[in-house]
Amino acid sequence: MSDSFDVKLEETVYLPDPSIRDQSWIGDYDAEYQRFLRNPDGFWEGIADELEWFRKWDHVKKWNPPYAEWFTNAQLNITHNCLDRHATGERRNKVALIWRGEKEGQERVLTYRQLYRQVMRFASALTKMGITKGDTVCLYMPLVPEHIVALLACARIGAVHNIVYGGFGASALNARIRDSGAKLVITSDVGYRRGKRVALKAIVDEAVVNAPTVEKIIVLRRSDPGPELFSEMEVDFYEVLESGDTTCEAAVMDAEDPLFILYTSGTTGQPKGIVHTCGGYMVGAYYTTKYVFDMKENDVHWCTADPGWITGHSYIVYGPLSVGATVLITETVPDYPDPGIFWRIVEDFGVTIFYTAPTAIRMFMRVGEEWPNKYNLDSLRIIGSVGEPLNPEAFEWYYRVIGKNRCPILDTWWQTETGMHMITTMVGEPMKPGFAGRPIPGVVADVVDAQGNPVEPGTGGLLVIKEPWPAQMRAVNNDDARYRAYWETINGYYTAGDLAVKDEDGYIMVLGRSDDIIIVAGHNLGTAEVESALVSHEAVAEAAVIGIPDPVKGQTVKAFVILVNGYTPTDKLKSDLTYHVRMGIGPIAMPSAIDFVDSLPKTRSGKIMRRVLKAQELGIDPGDISTLEE
Ligand code: WTA
Repeated sequence: MSDSFDVKLEETVYLPDPSIRDQSWIGDYDAEYQRFLRNPDGFWEGIADELEWFRKWDHVKKWNPPYAEWFTNAQLNITHNCLDRHATGERRNKVALIWRGEKEGQERVLTYRQLYRQVMRFASALTKMGITKGDTVCLYMPLVPEHIVALLACARIGAVHNIVYGGFGASALNARIRDSGAKLVITSDVGYRRGKRVALKAIVDEAVVNAPTVEKIIVLRRSDPGPELFSEMEVDFYEVLESGDTTCEAAVMDAEDPLFILYTSGTTGQPKGIVHTCGGYMVGAYYTTKYVFDMKENDVHWCTADPGWITGHSYIVYGPLSVGATVLITETVPDYPDPGIFWRIVEDFGVTIFYTAPTAIRMFMRVGEEWPNKYNLDSLRIIGSVGEPLNPEAFEWYYRVIGKNRCPILDTWWQTETGMHMITTMVGEPMKPGFAGRPIPGVVADVVDAQGNPVEPGTGGLLVIKEPWPAQMRAVNNDDARYRAYWETINGYYTAGDLAVKDEDGYIMVLGRSDDIIIVAGHNLGTAEVESALVSHEAVAEAAVIGIPDPVKGQTVKAFVILVNGYTPTDKLKSDLTYHVRMGIGPIAMPSAIDFVDSLPKTRSGKIMRRVLKAQELGIDPGDISTLEE
């Protein structure tokens, strides 16, 4: 891992209209940041006080590195803040959720009151099924309102949800069910994608074999006629819902009780089950939604992520609902039935805040501005990006074509582990394409060398967070060593695993991962995960994968494979292996190219040197290769 290097910085500055800053919740960034620095606990306490608690905290935080506690002894339920607070007050008839299916006219709207009552009913039904506080429930669902109802119902009764993205294959799902010990799986027979059905239940059927903790499966039947269910284990979603009482009190949760587990790729071994807790996570998701997105009463918020990623947890569900916003969700993909669909949805529903990923923005750029230009995008107020670096060309296009040179762009840097936005250019501040921006008030971020010394502006280094924050992960499920490694690798700082560079004004440009994580279309993949999927094929003796640049997806997976003696390298075998990875992990992990090789570059201790493969592939300098065997 290189720890510092020179980066040539070219800067353009975009100055937003001053009225944006004057009318924003945050106001003067510098003043807010200084206010935070003067009294960090007081700053967070002020945010927490905007929410409702059953009992307030004894301490804002207890920091016993690397273990943090936030809002010690406070009691709350996040669904009380996302639902009861609005549904029993003035927002009762406000629209909480708008769902748009793939087809025009497939629309469902739920007010806060309606969502609240459905969640209570489902929560009560889960209780009757024997699900209690602390049990884990796995959700593997398409993006429909029932998904949101189910996950909020879990939170209402204190069950820990583990949402698995519907694009993952059976072995990835099985690994997550097993590691989290899920007692219940909630799924749907199918999802719809690009006009086709995606079988979800069939994957669950395969994934629950060898998952002894699973007692029941709830199935939302969307196809007609729906599949037959096996009554020993399977129950219909609406039958469950109807068995619930009309009300269900929110469970009283300790601030440090777990709220959810969400798996993210690790550099070695199995994916990591990142554990977030109720109190701190709620405060972080609420704060960033209100103050970073500058969310106002009449906003219509559309985050194009899936609830299976942290972005969906924080900015489809918990953040916007805790603020009391109107949230748009859709099963639609950006290019079906045509690449104008997202802009049509913006126009149809008057979306004001739009949050997507650079890979989508680059796809829109490629198909041309005639698509967005067909629609009226005047409702847009703020546009955002997350998941990987937003390159300056994509920034400029997004700003001009979508934001019409008037909407601020929020290039938000954060992670599954951070739970909330950490670095961005707050609305109203000068924006610099290519730079995410500065740490938000509440966050202390820096770029350092391997010893933890800050590097000079213009020198690349490692991105770290120096102080705890409320929505920080509290554990890696079943793996304390991996949790500790985040805080114990560099001088007691939280190591993000990203390379970055700062400029003279403290703006941070994130350059990419410093480790073996490949980001394909904004989705993290561990090299180890993909390699072990390949090696699980009988023809493969050894495998190594690297990320190679892709103009739209950012990166794609390239695999190098050594075959077991007796197997012949053929195109048929390449497609078998690609299919094998697809079925195991899911379509995002599918290699875009496979090379059959006789050997792989390794260190003397036997570790594969992926950077050597990468250097060969891209024709660049491999760096220090003194540890390379022969
Ligand atoms: C990358 C997603 C550059 C980064 C919320 C990080 C980014 C990883 C940005 C976390 C950004 C996320 N600019 N890179 N604005 N946002 N990343 O856990 O490498 O799915 O470490 O969380 O995505 O991905 P994760």
